Amino acid sequence: MPKVIIDGQEIEVAAGTTIIQAADKLGISIPRYCYHDALPVSGNCRICMVEVEKQPKLQIACYTPVADGMVVKTNSPKVLDVRKTVLEFLLVNHPVDCPVCDQAGECKLQDYYMEHGQYNSRLVDVKVKKEKKAVQIGPTVMLDQERCILCTRCVRFTNTITKTNELGVFERGDHSQLDVYPGKQLDNPYAANVVDICPVGALTDKDFRFKCRVWYLAKTKSVCPGCSRGCNITVEWDKMRPHHFKKARVMRLKPRLNPDVNNYWICDAGRYNYRFIDENRITTPQLKDDLITWEQAIETVVKAIKSTKTDRIGVIASAQLTNEDLFVVGKLFKETLKVANVDYRVGQQPGNSDDFLIKADKNPNTAGAAAILGVPALSAEEIVQKAKRGEIDVLYVFGQDLVKLFGKDVVAEVVKKVKLLVYQGSNINETCSYAHLNLPSAVYAEKEGTFTNCQQKVQRIWPAFVPLGESRLDWVILSMIAEKMGTAFKYKNTQDIFKDIAATVDGFSEMTYEKLNDQGLILNKKL
Ligand code: SF4
Ligand code: SF4
Ligand code: FES
Repeated sequence: MPKVIIDGQEIEVAAGTTIIQAADKLGISIPRYCYHDALPVSGNCRICMVEVEKQPKLQIACYTPVADGMVVKTNSPKVLDVRKTVLEFLLVNHPVDCPVCDQAGECKLQDYYMEHGQYNSRLVDVKVKKEKKAVQIGPTVMLDQERCILCTRCVRFTNTITKTNELGVFERGDHSQLDVYPGKQLDNPYAANVVDICPVGALTDKDFRFKCRVWYLAKTKSVCPGCSRGCNITVEWDKMRPHHFKKARVMRLKPRLNPDVNNYWICDAGRYNYRFIDENRITTPQLKDDLITWEQAIETVVKAIKSTKTDRIGVIASAQLTNEDLFVVGKLFKETLKVANVDYRVGQQPGNSDDFLIKADKNPNTAGAAAILGVPALSAEEIVQKAKRGEIDVLYVFGQDLVKLFGKDVVAEVVKKVKLLVYQGSNINETCSYAHLNLPSAVYAEKEGTFTNCQQKVQRIWPAFVPLGESRLDWVILSMIAEKMGTAFKYKNTQDIFKDIAATVDGFSEMTYEKLNDQGLILNKKL
C-alpha cells in the first residue's frame, strides 16, 4: 500500500486512491467543483490543483493516484496562485447574483472566492450572456445557465446514477451551456438530487427557492418516514423567523450521507414529504365535539378500558411509529392489559418501487414492528370485522385512517357498535370525524427514537422541535394511561425504553443509542 505525505502528514492508503481522497482521509480539504465522491471523475474544473514534489507541473488531485513516497503540497504559494486564477476564469462570465441567488450561504464559488479570490477584477469585456435564467427544467428543478460553471456533476448524475440522461453540455467554448436535451424534462424520481450536488446556484429547488435564507436554518438529523428504505436525512427548519410561511417550521429536507442505506441521495417523494409536519395537525384532545384537557382524555380512556374485558379491546397500531413507541404499545396493551388483538400490519398496501432506493412498503418501521409486536392474534381487518359485529367495546387506533382502509360504511357501523373509538395520531384524516376521542400525538420530526429499515438496520431519529400545540409523544400518552391505571412505567425518556428493548427484544441485544450513532446498526438476529 502506497504511503504519501500531504502537507507534512503521512498516510498509507489503498493502491489507486487519488490525492483528493487521501487528503480527505487526513481531514485536509482540497477545493473541488467537479469532483464528487459518488460520481465518476471528470477532472474539468482544475480548482483542485496541488503541487507534487519532483513533478514540474501542478497536478489535479481528483484524478491523480497517489504513488509510494509521493510528497504533496496543497497550500504552497504556487497552488494558491493557481486557485486564484482558476476562480477568476470560472467567474469571468458568472453574474454578480449573490444577493439574489438562492444558493448564497452554501455556494462553493462564494466560499472559495472568500478564501482564495482575486478580489480586484481585471474584467473589462462584457460578460457572455446565456439564455436560460430561472427556467423550470422539470417538476422540481430550476436552471440558471449563466451561473453554471460546467462542472458536469449533474450530467454525470443523470448518466450514471439515474441513467435517465436528461442533461448535457451544449455548444463550444465560452458559449457552452448546460441544458436538458431538446424535448426532454428533468423528470425522474430522484431529479432534485442535482440541486444538492450543484456546487453553485445554477440548479435550485423550485420548492425551496426564496423561502428562507440558508443561514436561518437549523439542521436536525433524522430518517425519512416515506418508505421502508429509511433514507438518512436532515430536517432543516427555521428557528429564528416563526412568522414566516404561515408559521411552518420545516423549510426543506436534505439527504444525509449513509453509504449502506442511501449514500448521498433521496427520492423526490421523500424530499417533499414534509408539509404534514406543520399542516393539518390535531393539536388538542377532543371528545366528540368538545375540546378537552389531557387529564379528561386519559380519564375517558382509562374508564373505558377498566370497564371492558380484555378480549373486547382491539388495537390497531402502525409501522409509522418508532420502535420505542411500539414497545410501549406492547407493554401497555399486550403485557399489562393482556390484550391479544394488537395488529400493526395495515396501511401497508404496496406502492411504487424501483431497484434503487424506493421500496413498496411506505412505512419506515415494519421490520421494527414485527420484531417488537410479533405475530398478532388477529389481523386489523379481523379486529374491525369483530367490532362491526359488536364484539369489541374499545377500539384504539394509532394514526391509521380506517375510512381509507375499510370504507366509510364499515367505520360508520363500527362506531355505532363500540363504546369508545380512540384515534391517537398527529394529522387529521377522515377517521377523526368518526372517532369518539381524538388524541393529538407528535410527528417523527418531534421525536427521539429509532426505526428499523428494510435492511433491518436500526437507525436513530432526533427531535427537531417540540410537539405542536398540545400534542404529545405517543409513548408519553400511553405512559399516562398506564399511570392512571395504577401500573406506572419507569420510563423518563426514550433512551430508557431503548434499554428495555435491547434487554428483551430479539435482535436488539447490546444495542445502545451511542452504538447506533448516526449511521445505525443491523439487527443482530435475522427476522
Ligand atoms: Fe455543475 Fe451545476 Fe452547472 Fe450542473 S448546473 S454543470 S452541477 S455547475
Ligand atoms: Fe424516503 Fe423511501 Fe424516498 Fe428514501 S426512498 S427518501 S426512505 S421515500
Ligand atoms: Fe479536480 Fe475539478 S475537482 S478538476
